[in-house]
Amino acid sequence: MSPLVVATHNEGKAREIGELLAGIGIKVISAASLGLPEPEETGATFAENATIKSESAAKLSGNYALADDSGLCVTGLDDAPGIYSARWAGPEKDFAVAFDRIHNALLAKNIEPEGVAAHFICLLSLTSPEGITRSFEGRVDGTLTFPPRGAKGFGYDPIFIPAGQRMTFAEMEPEVKQVMSHRARAFAAFTAYLARKEAS
Ligand code: IMP
Repeated sequence: MSPLVVATHNEGKAREIGELLAGIGIKVISAASLGLPEPEETGATFAENATIKSESAAKLSGNYALADDSGLCVTGLDDAPGIYSARWAGPEKDFAVAFDRIHNALLAKNIEPEGVAAHFICLLSLTSPEGITRSFEGRVDGTLTFPPRGAKGFGYDPIFIPAGQRMTFAEMEPEVKQVMSHRARAFAAFTAYLARKEAS
């Protein structure tokens, strides 16, 4: 199954996906480097948006394509920002804006922001050149902290502390985050599927 087109234009995610696939012998090429357009994410769920991206990249490239749709869900905000996680950072992709928006939305609901429950979700979707799609989900639960802490990682990492840890994702070394992240868990499900497929 090679090469695998990774259908993301987000640098942080592309880097993490590349690292997660390194070592299992899968040759990867990015949709951006193939000049593929970014389809509009019009789905209502993480799974629908991941599928829109993997189906588009598989169709246009003629290869297997893997897409990821992910985001942060805050329990007290009815799981917002959820599928709108990227958009809450505004056109400048300034996550300080998104952190303030979450903080203010919690205060507006009389919820103490510090320590509020949240989780990251990652939906991975694999589409074959024939257009058959399979999805794999990963989740990590935790709490939020304000002000943000740490300079590693990307996106919402500076305000998220995974359950049982003291550091935010942005304070951890990338390899430590990789052991417990939503993306790592979705990838574990994906690689288990590949192993079953190879064995059959
Ligand atoms: P997508 O490209 O629509 O999937 O956008 C996902 C959004 O969720 C982006 O704004 C990311 O910054 C955020 N996000 C997804 N995974 C992570 C993560 O591991 N850490 C921090 N933010 C993340």
